[in-house]
Amino acid sequence: MKKLVVALDGPAGAGKSTIAKAVAEKINYAYIDTGAMYRAVTWKFVQTGHAFEEEFIGELSEKMVIEFQPRDGVNHVFADGVEITDFIRTPEISKLVSPLSAIPRVRLAMVTQQRRMGEKGGVILDGRDIGTVVFPKAELKIFLTASVDERAQRRYKEMLAKGIDVQLDVVKTEIAQRDYQDSHRAVSPLKQAEDAILLDSTGKSIDQVADFIIKKIEEKAK
Ligand code: DC
Repeated sequence: MKKLVVALDGPAGAGKSTIAKAVAEKINYAYIDTGAMYRAVTWKFVQTGHAFEEEFIGELSEKMVIEFQPRDGVNHVFADGVEITDFIRTPEISKLVSPLSAIPRVRLAMVTQQRRMGEKGGVILDGRDIGTVVFPKAELKIFLTASVDERAQRRYKEMLAKGIDVQLDVVKTEIAQRDYQDSHRAVSPLKQAEDAILLDSTGKSIDQVADFIIKKIEEKAK
């Protein structure tokens, strides 16, 4: 069967990473979590203690090597060889990642890495601009969404499970703010590609959504 490039875009908390991971495991595709890449740059930037300057962050992002290693059901993230999987989901990073991912030079650096990682196919990438910018010719594009309430609930539970102490209404406000910022920025705003399939995951299980996508992949790969 043909190895496709699958673009999975959508707003924060729609379940993209859970779904992408499930799909990748079931059909043996590579999974590229592009949000984790912007988070990795944010983490690295925070480590430097430097002021928020576009040029500085742009240069930092161009020098970074980001890698993924799926193991034991977890997509481990490495920045320049250092494992940062658990460090990139904190509220501090979540807050800073939106303005940082709006820097054109950072986006160019990440998009270049993403294209290189996905060029051979057999890959599912999740993000905001995969179907519109990174792989506009992806064989399958899915735009995954869910209600703000459901997305906030999911993120909240995810954070509690990781031992991060937060309140549901704070998570909800943060998601709504991030939706706004991500869809109103000048460069590559969050937008459904014209040829993407709109998939609303509200009230659906992980398996239901993953199986729907796998069916579409199988149809296209014939
Ligand atoms: O999916 P996530 O919450 O881990 O993404 C973190 C941030 O990175 C999100 O606020 C928007 C940004 N992002 C982006 O601009 N482009 C992508 N392809 C993926 C994420």
